[in-house]
Amino acid sequence: MKKVCIVGASGKLGQYMVQHALERGYEVVGVCREKSVQKLDRFKDRMTIIPGMTNDRTIIEKAVAGCDGVLTVLAPWGVQQYSSGTAQAVMDFARPEARLIFSCGWHISLDGKDVYSWKIKFIEKVIGPIIRFLRLVEIDDQIEAARRIFASDTRWTVVRGSDLEEGESQGLPVWSRHVGDPILESNMTRRIDFALFMVDALTNDDLIGEAPAIVGCQTPSALAHKQQSSPQSAS
Ligand SMILES: NC(=O)c1ccc[n+]([C@@H]2O[C@H](COP(=O)([O-])OP(=O)(O)OC[C@H]3O[C@@H](n4cnc5c(N)ncnc54)[C@H](OP(=O)(O)O)[C@@H]3O)[C@@H](O)[C@H]2O)c1
Repeated sequence: MKKVCIVGASGKLGQYMVQHALERGYEVVGVCREKSVQKLDRFKDRMTIIPGMTNDRTIIEKAVAGCDGVLTVLAPWGVQQYSSGTAQAVMDFARPEARLIFSCGWHISLDGKDVYSWKIKFIEKVIGPIIRFLRLVEIDDQIEAARRIFASDTRWTVVRGSDLEEGESQGLPVWSRHVGDPILESNMTRRIDFALFMVDALTNDDLIGEAPAIVGCQTPSALAHKQQSSPQSAS
């Protein structure tokens, strides 16, 4: 892994991914909205920044050229197929052998075997349509993005984040194939460690074709079920 592209580099998760990728000595190319470029000021001498919308196919084609890995923040903003447009462009233009890592939440399901809390169901079934109606967020489109990724023959991993909090790193999160597994019960991950998992996945071929649901390694549920830590907890 020498050169990586981070799509959505200026966001909270994106900035942590830039930090981890630079620490690993990777050459980093970042894509972010023009108005957000200044959020990357502290990295600007150590990375290439390509300003533009992440679902702009011309921008993505340029950004992923020659990259061994692409880390993509799937953000369901607006109602213009932002997530699926971004994911499709990354899959279409990245090198066939490139590792593609995408971020999303637990609400995405690879095989339909996840068991969801009432809170997640409520957000998807009730809040989702309201915010879509207000043209703010399109959760359905993030689901469509994931569907296309799962159906692709790219070397993908879709990392499903729990609820997130800020704070110092606690180490690499643990994961399971299914939401509802006891190890995930604490439902909390430090955002810096979500980013660590994404960057680490670039060189972990065991995660190809997986949609790991992650949780902080120091959370009570992770500690209580340590011995059955991923992927053995998968059923
Ligand atoms: N937040 C959570 O609790 C949570 C929980 C589980 C999983 N996740 C997943 O984690 C990932 C990162 O989420 P995050 O909440 O931490 O946010 P984030 O890292 O700040 O990322 C948000 C991204 O969306 C972009 N963005 C914001 N407003 C936009 C707009 N109106 N139009 C286009 N792009 C816009 C941001 O770019 P700018 O820098 O240009 O604003 C940034 O790249 C996502 O994949 C999300 O599904 C989040």
